[in-house]
Amino acid sequence: MQYKLGLIGFPVKHSLSPWIHRHFLNKAELSGEYLTLEIDPKDSFEKALQDIMDSQFDGFNVTVPYKKQIIPFLDELDAAAQEIGAVNTVVQQNGKWIGYNTDGIGYVTSLRHHHPSIFKNNHCNILIIGAGGAARGIFKSLSITGFTRIDIANRTQSSAESIAVSGDSEMNTSILSLEEAEAKLNHYDLIIQTTNVGMKPNVNDTILSLEQIDNTSIVSDIVYQPIKTQFLHDADQSGAAIHYGHTMLLYQARYAFEIWTGKKVPADDMEQPLQSILEGR
Ligand code: ATR
Repeated sequence: MQYKLGLIGFPVKHSLSPWIHRHFLNKAELSGEYLTLEIDPKDSFEKALQDIMDSQFDGFNVTVPYKKQIIPFLDELDAAAQEIGAVNTVVQQNGKWIGYNTDGIGYVTSLRHHHPSIFKNNHCNILIIGAGGAARGIFKSLSITGFTRIDIANRTQSSAESIAVSGDSEMNTSILSLEEAEAKLNHYDLIIQTTNVGMKPNVNDTILSLEQIDNTSIVSDIVYQPIKTQFLHDADQSGAAIHYGHTMLLYQARYAFEIWTGKKVPADDMEQPLQSILEGR
């Protein structure tokens, strides 16, 4: 079988997903291709998507700005995508297009890989900064994993509230302003930055000051361009452990690949080469 895979979004020309998935195809000894399918927001999304769906694709990834917009055009959604309200992976099965979201599970797997100790204590205190699609996916996946104390800090508190109400009855969640979170950072064992603040070209920006963190905490940023954001740099300076965003990129891709092909490929040996590519940009 020759797999036909790709990525829809805008812009996607410089995406690292083709590099990742071509490596996965090689590792799994499968043949196929992974194409970037740029859809200009000025064009009709519906028509462009229909053309792709008519072109014998086995599946594709979806990125900004189409993760929500694609939903009405799919036949089914898996539970995570339904709950998160965003899709990053689509597979074609018996003529039906099914949407998944592998961002949250990708994040949690990358965290488990690098910081297994945190999974020994479900009562650890977690802070998620941001309340967009990525935050929702991570909140959901951490909650499925058994964590019960996850606070959310966001500029717009209503978005954080809508994530908090999706938690089950076991979940203990406080909603904080960014200022409130900043003042009580030493309360958290794990702090996860999910906004795009600090992303290239605004590399000096940081969502909040880390002056109050405890040096035993783990600080994570899902931004991976640059690989070491100002936020991670500040955390490192404070003596905290840091967790890089490119590892989430790799593991969300690994789950997507498994959905398309049924093959679980190892991804850990790709972290270093991916880091080198990102550092060279
Ligand atoms: P994604 O799907 O990648 O999570 P998103 O849904 O656009 O992206 O969410 C972006 C998140 O970054 C939101 O939490 C947003 O805060 P608001 O809900 O207040 O909009 C946050 N964000 C983006 N730019 C920000 C900024 N300059 N300051 C604070 N928060 C910011």
